[in-house]
Amino acid sequence: TISQVLARRIWDSRGRPTVEVEVRTASGAVGLGMAPAGASRGTREAIERRDGGPRFGGLDVQRAIEGIDREIAPLLVGRDEADQGGIDAALIALDGTATKERLGGNALVATSLAVLHAAAAARGLPLWRHLAGDRPVRLPLPQIQVFGGGAHAGRRVDVQDFMVVAVGAQSFSQALEMTAEVYRCAGEWMRERGRLAGVADEGGWWPDFARNEEALDALVAAIERAGYVPGQDVAIALDIAASEFGRDGRYRLALEGEELDSDALSERLLRWIERYPIVSIEDPLAEDDERGLAAFTRACQGRVQVVGDDYLVTNADRVSQAAAAGACNCVLVKPNQAGTVTEALQALQAAREAGFATIVSARSGETEDVAIVHLATGWDAGQLKVGSFARSERMAKWNEGVRIETRPGAPAGFAGGSALARR
Ligand code: PGA
Ligand code: ZN
Repeated sequence: TISQVLARRIWDSRGRPTVEVEVRTASGAVGLGMAPAGASRGTREAIERRDGGPRFGGLDVQRAIEGIDREIAPLLVGRDEADQGGIDAALIALDGTATKERLGGNALVATSLAVLHAAAAARGLPLWRHLAGDRPVRLPLPQIQVFGGGAHAGRRVDVQDFMVVAVGAQSFSQALEMTAEVYRCAGEWMRERGRLAGVADEGGWWPDFARNEEALDALVAAIERAGYVPGQDVAIALDIAASEFGRDGRYRLALEGEELDSDALSERLLRWIERYPIVSIEDPLAEDDERGLAAFTRACQGRVQVVGDDYLVTNADRVSQAAAAGACNCVLVKPNQAGTVTEALQALQAAREAGFATIVSARSGETEDVAIVHLATGWDAGQLKVGSFARSERMAKWNEGVRIETRPGAPAGFAGGSALARR
């Protein structure tokens, strides 16, 4: 039984205010939930409650915390912490808006995650095991950023994430080992060219490139330099985050100084797929360009995974609609886009029913919370995206995966390269 709900302001990886909720049970279990924050958000995401005004750039969360103290805490005290579905439904009803703007998606997701952590703690189980029950589950295949870009790097390059996927790895720990070498070699490559300039928001190297393709060339060079065969051992994944530079079917590539229509951007990406060992592309076109997304997915003919992030916003109905339209073949699952753990799980289940692959993902603004690693494992999502291989809000999550993999009673296996959608 939940005995106490405490809310407080903590600080995220960008040094901005965010919400933490602590749920305590009568049995003495404690669960902490922390709200992450995106920078390149889909327009249909759950809306955060922020205070506005001059302080902290308007991003303070005092009103979200007041809402938890005044309304959410009284609702939850006395309830069974194991009833995640019932509690999430009560939170959604209490908020009463379609966008979760009244109490705030940040207040709701921190609460929902805190309840989940408390329930696992009350049973004395690791969170992933609490979620998996007796089902056999696998550690996820990581997508790890090497160069940041887009909204996470002052729009220095248009593409947001240049990532690698260790498709040849036999375990989660080995995937990290392989990525560590590629990340290090990419840094050396940049330094030799006088282009090393620190890191972007998610810890990827700052993308000091003149063209988007240069980053792809640098990635291939880094994979080879690390001693791996591009495509066979380590492949490339991109998040184009096209909603950030495209609207109404027009896309402005600032770096190349070009304006492309939907078909021309598609052709550009298809050319990259021909030339580089790319296995996954996220948000290749803008969230409102469903026709373009469907045409692109068709043109890929199952050679690459097409991921919907801003397009699907972790929403089960949108996933089903995308499946009917053939507009992608994989969903990115971000609990704070939906607002509650239950809705995130529903989006994942809708994806599974549609035959889509699934990736559980962090945000660019993160905390030390490692819940998403447990969600990816316990829900057997197959893939996990956390940002780069630097900075402790990222490394805390990769390291948690190592712990899950090496503790007694570990999951049955590792999802590996077969977790990627190819259909
Ligand atoms: P965000 O971006 O967390 O800044 O919204 C991450 C992503 O687009 O995958
Ligand atoms: Zn994205």
